[in-house]
Amino acid sequence: MSEHVNISAYEGVESYSTFNNKTFVEYCDNKISECDKHIAFIKNNINNNDLGVVIEVGSGNGKLLFALERDGFITKGTGFELSNSRVFFANKFGALFNSKIVEIICGNFLDQDIEDNSTDLIIAVDLVIQLISAINDQEESNFLKKVHEALKPGGYFLIELMDFSNLIKMHGINNGDLKIWKEFDLSDPWQFGLDDFMIEGDNINCDKSFIARDRKISNSSFSNILKHYTFDSLAKKLVSVGFSVSKIKKYQYWDSKGDILEDELIILAEKD
Ligand SMILES: C[S@@+](CC[C@H](N)C(=O)[O-])C[C@H]1O[C@@H](n2cnc3c(N)ncnc32)[C@H](O)[C@@H]1O
Repeated sequence: MSEHVNISAYEGVESYSTFNNKTFVEYCDNKISECDKHIAFIKNNINNNDLGVVIEVGSGNGKLLFALERDGFITKGTGFELSNSRVFFANKFGALFNSKIVEIICGNFLDQDIEDNSTDLIIAVDLVIQLISAINDQEESNFLKKVHEALKPGGYFLIELMDFSNLIKMHGINNGDLKIWKEFDLSDPWQFGLDDFMIEGDNINCDKSFIARDRKISNSSFSNILKHYTFDSLAKKLVSVGFSVSKIKKYQYWDSKGDILEDELIILAEKD
């Protein structure tokens, strides 16, 4: 069976060789400051502020784990990330911030041995859950079960996702054609991104193209597939693996209104 597109989608992303010392430091500073809102959320909503053992699934460049370490919230942080280029980048990022207790492991979270009842917080932010669940229903239920088993009683699962209901409507109004441009922060080597969406059942196929800021590196592109969830549909899945419905909460922002898009949402589920 050929590998699902989501497994290799982020290979080459945050390629260290596209940065020089100055742009690398600026980029990392900017990325870590983006985590202030996540830290504020964790302080405000997770009872036990001394988080202890934390796992991030799809940790990307590792910014959130490094921010949690910097602010003294964790005793151990482990990030699992499929993309070699992002893991290489994350290790450089960690060295820049003198990280001592965060380890970024290159591999699929679903293939890892994680002790039951061992983890205080599992993080899956920025669409990670939608990338995993789009592969198939089995992958979705294996993922959610693994998270539930790994958490200690009283541990938390922190999710950020996009509710695509409006995007699906816009796609319909536009006869199945929807492309959205975005412009990145000045510290990013890419200036513009174009997302081209196609809808297949419960899945949103997204072809992403990037235009380099200085036009000295060639344009880049990759595709990924995201599963569509609403709060209710995901809550139902969480209940099916053992979370209690009364302990699944929904939030519309991290720290202040407008710090995520209107269609994005944050879900915090506490294990009984
Ligand atoms: C949209 S990015 C988010 C990165 C990061 N969490 C952030 O907030 O910037 C999703 C990341 O999840 C990774 N990923 C997807 N499925 C994964 C899996 N099963 N195990 C580990 N990493 C995974 C991808 O390689 C990608 O880098």
